[in-house]
Amino acid sequence: MEVSKTMMAMVILVLFGLMTEQASCKVVQFIFGDSLSDVGNNNRLPRSLARASLPWYGIDFGNGMPNGRFTNGRTVADIIGDKMGLPRPPAFLDPSVDEDVILQNGLSYASGGAGILNETGQLFVQKFSLDKQIELFQGTQALVKKKIGEKAANKFFTDSLYVVALGSNDFINNYLFPVYADSWKYTGAGFINLLMTTLEQQLTLLHRLGARQLIFFGLGPMGCIPLQRVLSTSGACQEKTNQLAKDFNKAGSQLLLRLSKSLPNASFQFGDAYDVVENVISDPTNHGFNNSDSPCCSLGRIRPALTCTPASSLCKDRSKYVFWDEYHPSDKANEIIANEIMSKLTFFSVNSTTHTPSVLPPALAPSPV
Ligand SMILES: *[C@@H]1O[C@H](CO)[C@@H](O)[C@H](O)[C@H]1NC(C)=O
Ligand SMILES: *[C@@H]1O[C@H](CO)[C@@H](O)[C@H](O)[C@H]1NC(C)=O
Ligand SMILES: *[C@@H]1O[C@H](CO)[C@@H](O)[C@H](O)[C@H]1NC(C)=O
Ligand SMILES: *[C@@H]1O[C@H](CO)[C@@H](O)[C@H](O)[C@H]1NC(C)=O
Repeated sequence: MEVSKTMMAMVILVLFGLMTEQASCKVVQFIFGDSLSDVGNNNRLPRSLARASLPWYGIDFGNGMPNGRFTNGRTVADIIGDKMGLPRPPAFLDPSVDEDVILQNGLSYASGGAGILNETGQLFVQKFSLDKQIELFQGTQALVKKKIGEKAANKFFTDSLYVVALGSNDFINNYLFPVYADSWKYTGAGFINLLMTTLEQQLTLLHRLGARQLIFFGLGPMGCIPLQRVLSTSGACQEKTNQLAKDFNKAGSQLLLRLSKSLPNASFQFGDAYDVVENVISDPTNHGFNNSDSPCCSLGRIRPALTCTPASSLCKDRSKYVFWDEYHPSDKANEIIANEIMSKLTFFSVNSTTHTPSVLPPALAPSPV
């Protein structure tokens, strides 16, 4: 009797040990992006001119103090990660980050002003371009390998989810900015080609480094951000800019599909919310908004105000504004964008059993959303 009880206890212990060992390799996210995803990197780049370090950034997040997010609340990546039940990755430059934090939460390299191209966003002085972000990720991999060994680290990085979300700065703060060489060198189609060739190399490198599940967020109607509207006397959306976003999305979704088919075990997916955001902007009332053409946080009549500051005034109801500042959507708009992107990813659709890639770890299995 005693013996079998002891045996049972041992079996349970062994089983428990196995389970915790399995559980210790959590599925986490690694996020590469620009200000739409930045969670605090630029706030720690002392010379960066793209920082969400002043009130009223973050007013609807946590304690309401600025946290590096370029919005009043959550980013699109925050919302998607939350819905998937994944932890929120801290900023790469957050001083509390060490190997244990990375193993439990993943990491975000997203940096305001960043683009697919190195030369994008030069006016912001300091930022991590996508190439730089991937370089930093390679440093992270070396650290984790040293900590838990090559084999466990390889499994950890293969099981993780990768989010890549850049592109609007390559247009707004490069191609469409007449002082830069790229606006003279390329046609719209030529420039999008350059972006796709560069992105293909970057995503292929991420795959070589272990990325198997990857989501790329496409662009929204960036010709309708308040900053673009003030460029015209009528305040209308810049149709040329919107067309570039649509062309980028078309080329991007084809690229992701092609890579997903050609790279071994890859599930690389493209999600954009272009059409939904366009609908919201043209008919805000129908979607519960009251304003879709100006920033909630603005400096009186001074437009464009480059950033939200403590001297700015806020709209009365932040949940009724599509845009938080001249560039960035509000928390409420981000929620709509996140829902739309998720609806386009096969592993989220309610009916996805037949589409679910076999490489998906259990934590990413379809869940009711
Ligand atoms: C972009 O910058 C990275 C360093 O962050 C460098 O390795 C790479 O060669 C650069 N790419 C180009 C096209 O200059
Ligand atoms: C693809 O997945 C299979 C099964 O998990 C694995 O044996 C193989 O090594 C993987 N190949 C690559 C290139 O990741
Ligand atoms: C927003 O609300 C104000 C006051 O209720 C109203 O006059 C205005 O037409 C609304 N605008 C939109 C775009 O719904
Ligand atoms: C699920 O898939 C089946 C078979 O393809 C289809 O008949 C059904 O309409 C789908 N349901 C939903 C909710 O998409």
